[in-house]
Amino acid sequence: MSSPDTPTAYAEQLKTEAAARTLAGWSFPPPEAGNSHSRTIKKVGVIGAGVMGSGIAHWCAACGLQVVLRDVQPEFIARGLTVIRGLFDGGVKLGQQTADEAEQAMGRIVTTTGWDGFSDCDLVIEAIVEDVAAKQKLFAEIATNVGPLVLLASNTSALPIEELFGNVPQPERTLGIHFFNPVGRMPLVELIMGRQTSEATATAALGFVKQLKKSPVICRSSPGFLVTRVLFFYLNEACRLWEEGVPTETIDNAMREWGWPMGPMRLIDEVGVDVTDFIFGEMAHYFTARFQRATICTRLLAAGFKGRKNGASSGFYAYVGREASLNEAAKLMDVGPMSSTPTATEIAGRLMAVMVAEAQRCLDEGVIKTPADVDFALLSGAGFPATRGGLMHWAAGKNTG
Ligand code: NAI
Repeated sequence: MSSPDTPTAYAEQLKTEAAARTLAGWSFPPPEAGNSHSRTIKKVGVIGAGVMGSGIAHWCAACGLQVVLRDVQPEFIARGLTVIRGLFDGGVKLGQQTADEAEQAMGRIVTTTGWDGFSDCDLVIEAIVEDVAAKQKLFAEIATNVGPLVLLASNTSALPIEELFGNVPQPERTLGIHFFNPVGRMPLVELIMGRQTSEATATAALGFVKQLKKSPVICRSSPGFLVTRVLFFYLNEACRLWEEGVPTETIDNAMREWGWPMGPMRLIDEVGVDVTDFIFGEMAHYFTARFQRATICTRLLAAGFKGRKNGASSGFYAYVGREASLNEAAKLMDVGPMSSTPTATEIAGRLMAVMVAEAQRCLDEGVIKTPADVDFALLSGAGFPATRGGLMHWAAGKNTG
């Protein structure tokens, strides 16, 4: 691509390119071994009416698709529908749609605790708990309740796709469609190609993501894909720094000065100390030799500090409404002896080096195709500062002036 003059112009150019993304350069199993049936997605089954399932159902319906949303208990469905109603009401208040349009979209969503309405879906997306055994069991069950041509996708944040679809007939129709939270606002979707994903499946999924007005990046199945992997290596390194005795606010201020909208400790609180610790566990499981897992999140959790989500109000910080102050109890947790406080430049240098190294490994392993794809994914999925252009663009020393 031509080289724009400023980092921000480069970041803008990446958006345009993402909207026109194709599958060029990706290889697939031979067509005769795969499912060559091409299709347009008109009806989507969403399984799990939690944070992500509700968000996906809302956005699909808002974009004109028919949706059937499933959870295991009527009260979980009711909770999901309340969330969805709130999202539509919010959209009306912001002028994104009229009240009539919102009502019609809401009417496109039906719910079930069974399998009614699934047989004529074009695509089923799973958004249940992040647990391999639960997802495997669910996909085996889905496969007995939908036809052999229905595409099957997981919204997993980190699990390699092949592990989830072991028992599914016609595995060429399986892939990962990784939305980001909140679904309605986050432009990025990672499309995850498993070893058996066919070109027809990938093509249909790419069309679906564009129908949803999202910007796709394409990844090969691998633990954490791109964004989760790179981001959580970075967050883990921030926790290791914290455990060496660098104060919460020193780390966060350094990264905000560098350009991030929020520092890593604050980001952990927002993502959830529980979710972060869980993903650290997944990264340690899959990258045993390299991921030296920090323990502070496990210790915060044991002390009842879950971060900021789901009504929890303390993690690295304590929150009262929108106000955040340091969580004094977290400060008292054991930290190592620190010989000298690193400067903001040293902190940013260390954390960004971890991020760049992990992204480079993703490129070397073929998880993602180009440095520009890495840049776009982190800009649109992780809040990388556009004033730096993009992660690999910055690391290569391009238009830093
Ligand atoms: P959640 O805990 O909010 O919701 C999960 C829902 O699935 C619950 O309502 C539960 O009752 C339901 N469920 C469990 N087993 C079921 C079954 N067999 N059939 C139907 N429903 C079932 O979870 P969340 O946060 O929405 O995450 C879902 C998936 O999305 C996970 O794989 C997670 O890693 C991934 N993800 C989460 C993100 C986030 O920020 N929360 C971001 C991107 C991906």
